[in-house]
Amino acid sequence: MTPALSRRQFLARLAALSLLPAGARADAPRVLTPTQMEGPFYPLELPLDRDNDLTRVTGQSRVALGIVTDLSGMVLDLDGRPIKNARVEIWQCDARGFYHHPLDRGGQADPAFQGFGHTITDTAGRYRFRTLRPVPYPGRTPHIHAKVLLPGASEFITQIYIAGEPLNDRDGLYRSIPADRRHRVLAQFQPSGTGQAARFNFVMASRDGTPRL
Ligand SMILES: [Fe+2]
Repeated sequence: MTPALSRRQFLARLAALSLLPAGARADAPRVLTPTQMEGPFYPLELPLDRDNDLTRVTGQSRVALGIVTDLSGMVLDLDGRPIKNARVEIWQCDARGFYHHPLDRGGQADPAFQGFGHTITDTAGRYRFRTLRPVPYPGRTPHIHAKVLLPGASEFITQIYIAGEPLNDRDGLYRSIPADRRHRVLAQFQPSGTGQAARFNFVMASRDGTPRL
């Protein structure tokens, strides 16, 4: 008589048979994007202008100070399938290290920098922002905060860091991520046109936010 398979054995056999879910990609990421704390500077009140171009603000005659950066990528599940209609939010400090937030040293942020923006992933799971290359501020290495919201799922919050930035290794929040997963919060910022471009993919537990197997 064959003893009942343990859950672990059952999963191992599934994996051996390559029973990937429909739509799964052979190059599936299989590693979650590490989550991070929201931090103190998420807007208390979202700005009226909250589109995906953070470098221009309605009513301002100039572009934000700083290095304009095309930030784009995808929201994926662990099987590499794109997640459409996900709301992606980013927020960050301006080119001099100030947030649009009353807790951050008294309203010194560049009025031409939006500071917060949001977009919705398309049918291929893609998102795109025009924003700034992040800069350091006291106590922190450069980073962009990001939140991904899916219907019926809890908030997914992380931070995007600059690959190769020397300050990363002195940053407590960056270092709180296990060393073998830190590459999942890094993006390469490279010259592009008159500014820079960076790509970053968010890998979620599943399209409805619940753990998969
Ligand atoms: Fe921050």
